[in-house]
Amino acid sequence: MQPDDFEFLARLLKERSGLVLTKDKGYLVENRLMPVVRQKRLKTLAELLTALKNGEAAVAEHVVEAMMFKDTGFFRDWKPFEHFRHTVLPNLLATRKAKKTLRILCAGVSTGQEAYSLAMILDQAREAWAGWTAEIIGIDLSAPALTYAATGLYSQFEVQRGLPIRMLLKHFQKEDDSWRLKDAIRGMAELKVWNLMDDLFPLGRFDVVLCRNVLPYFDMQTKFAVLQKLGRSMSDDGVLYVGLHEPLSGVSTSFQAVNARLGIYVSGRAEAAKIATLAAPR
Ligand SMILES: C[S@@+](CC[C@H](N)C(=O)[O-])C[C@H]1O[C@@H](n2cnc3c(N)ncnc32)[C@H](O)[C@@H]1O
Repeated sequence: MQPDDFEFLARLLKERSGLVLTKDKGYLVENRLMPVVRQKRLKTLAELLTALKNGEAAVAEHVVEAMMFKDTGFFRDWKPFEHFRHTVLPNLLATRKAKKTLRILCAGVSTGQEAYSLAMILDQAREAWAGWTAEIIGIDLSAPALTYAATGLYSQFEVQRGLPIRMLLKHFQKEDDSWRLKDAIRGMAELKVWNLMDDLFPLGRFDVVLCRNVLPYFDMQTKFAVLQKLGRSMSDDGVLYVGLHEPLSGVSTSFQAVNARLGIYVSGRAEAAKIATLAAPR
């Protein structure tokens, strides 16, 4: 690919998704875009670039979709989910007793496993929040990933990655070679196509936000802007989970670390006592 074309593609990806395409990722371009070339009944990558340069919106959408990194899994990294189960959830059940509402955002939810992992945790504590309104909202730029998530149908490989067998047997039904998530859990998550480059304000305020394994694909400026938006979308004592290797120090001033190693943060507006409560192992 010519350097000009690479730059054009990198600019398009950044504008539309925030994704930064660095030169060392050049090898990915051909791997990921040749299937789009074939799908669009074109012959070469050069023809695809011409279609992009001519402003063909449907082609641009396919290209962005093909370049996204969508790897995910149930209870990914395990410990942050245990922290949510044993520390954040009991804390919210105490502090939101009067309002009886609980709102969780999974930003960059991909094929849904993250949102459904939280739904399974909430389900286990169902008696504690009987009479409450609990919402889990999963957003992603990728409509195909969300369509997949909405089916709740996962392969043997996908359920083997991180899902404890007792939860598999409790919440899924075998369907040929795959496993279908039961409606009781599937219905707890609402999935929306949403771009993190856009305003998040219409989604409302959240008590917990997960934005895990999404920020590393953005440059510093985009990370800062996304974190600022997430910070504004959270209640003052809201909790943010980012990925395990995504320290926010030097990236954002909107958050204070509870446990940076596990990617657990609170809003910059939270009181020191809150940090101490959430940091204490239970
Ligand atoms: C690597 S996956 C992470 C999935 C999940 N959060 C996890 O940790 O397992 C990153 C997801 O972020 C989504 N994503 C990337 N840029 C986005 C954007 N600008 N707006 C919304 N979602 C985006 C991708 O489509 C992808 O599904």
